[in-house]
Amino acid sequence: MADLADIADIGRDARRGGYSRHGFDTAELELREWFTAEARARELDVRPDRNGNLWAWWGTPGPGAVVTGSHLDSVPGGGAFDGPLGVVSALQAFDVLRANGFTPSRPLAIVVFVEEEGGRFGVACLGSRLMTGATAPEVAARLVDQDGIAFGEAAHRAGFDPWRMGRDDEALGRVGAFVELHVEQGRGLDVPVGVASSILAHGRWRFTFTGEGNHAGATPIEDRRDPMLPASRVVLAARKAARDGARATVGRIVPNPGGTNVIASSVDLWLDARAADDRRTRAVVAEITEAARGFAAEEGCQVHVTEESYGDTVHFDARLRDDIAGALGGVPALPTGAGHDAGVLAAHVPTAMLFVRNPTGVSHAPEEFAEAEDCAAGVVALATTLEHLAR
Ligand code: GLV
Ligand code: MN
Ligand code: MN
Ligand code: MN
Repeated sequence: MADLADIADIGRDARRGGYSRHGFDTAELELREWFTAEARARELDVRPDRNGNLWAWWGTPGPGAVVTGSHLDSVPGGGAFDGPLGVVSALQAFDVLRANGFTPSRPLAIVVFVEEEGGRFGVACLGSRLMTGATAPEVAARLVDQDGIAFGEAAHRAGFDPWRMGRDDEALGRVGAFVELHVEQGRGLDVPVGVASSILAHGRWRFTFTGEGNHAGATPIEDRRDPMLPASRVVLAARKAARDGARATVGRIVPNPGGTNVIASSVDLWLDARAADDRRTRAVVAEITEAARGFAAEEGCQVHVTEESYGDTVHFDARLRDDIAGALGGVPALPTGAGHDAGVLAAHVPTAMLFVRNPTGVSHAPEEFAEAEDCAAGVVALATTLEHLAR
C-alpha cells in the first residue's frame, strides 16, 4: 500500500476522477521512472526492450526466466489497482524472497508492458502484442491518439525507434513462464487470492457513420442525414445482441465536429464485444453490424466498420495453473471477462494469473478497490509462486 501511495499523485484525472495514465504520456513516463528507480534500488538490472516494455532482472537475463509483472497505464478515469497492483506486488514479492534468503536457480524478472489498456492508441495490450508479433509494427506506428499524435511519434519521443519495433524473439525467448498478478475485476472471488482459468474472447470494433453536417436550426428534420441517429440505435442494438453471457458495450462515441448547434457530419463509435468463444463473439458483432447498416440506410447515412483489435478465448496453461494452486495450498480458479497481457503471452509461453479479491466488483472506474490484507496475501502468493517456479 505504501508503494501505491508513492505513485498516488501521478496521473490523477481531476475532471474524470481516478487516473488517466496512458502509454508514453507524461504520467506513464513518470511511473516508468518511478519503477526504474525502485528496481535499481533493489539492484535489479533494468532495461527496456525495443517495443517499449520495461524489464527488471534479478540474475543474468536469459532463457528459462520466471517473469512476473503487469502494466502502469490505465483506462481514462481508471482505478489505482488495475495494472499497478501487479507491478508493486512483483517488487514486494522480490523483497520477500530476498528477506527469506532465497537464491533462484533460474533468472527472475519483472516486466512492465506499455499501453495495456489501449486507452491512448486504441489497441489493448499493445506492448505485448508488438513483442509477440500479434500486432504488426507498421500498424502500431500509424495508430493515433485523440490529439492526432501517432504511436510511432510518441514512441520516438520516449526514446524508442518505431522502425525497430515488432516481434522480439530475444525478449520472448527468455520467458520460461509468465505469472501476472491482478486485481480481480468482477465479484468472482470470495477468498483473498485465486488463479485464472480463462479469458473471454474479446475485441474492439470502430463504427464510422457518415451523413451530412448542417445547421441545427435551419435544416428541417425531413432534410437531414444525421449520423447520430443510427449511432444511438447501435447502443441499443448492442444491449439486445449481448445474450447468454455475452457482453457488448459502447463506451465511447465521438460526433464530428461536435457542436451543440451542428448536425454531425460523421460519428465514430467504438464497440467492445466479448463472449465465451470466437463463434459467439463474432455472432454478436455480426448482429450489431447488420443492424447498424439498416439504421444507417434508414437515415440516408453510410457506415464503415473496422476491427481494431481482437483476441480469441484464452485457456491458461492447466498444468501451471494447477501447479500454482497446489503450491498455494489450494485456491479457486476462475474465469475473467477482462483482457490482460498474460492472455497475449499465453499463446507463446506457459502463463498464469493470480487474482486478488475485489470486494466491490468495480474496476475501470475510480472506485476500484482491494483491501490491504488481500493485497498482502497476493504478495505472499506471488512470492510463493515465484519461489516454487524458480527454485
Ligand atoms: C482491459 O483491461 C480490458 O479487459 O479491456
Ligand atoms: Mn484494465
Ligand atoms: Mn490490467
Ligand atoms: Mn486489462
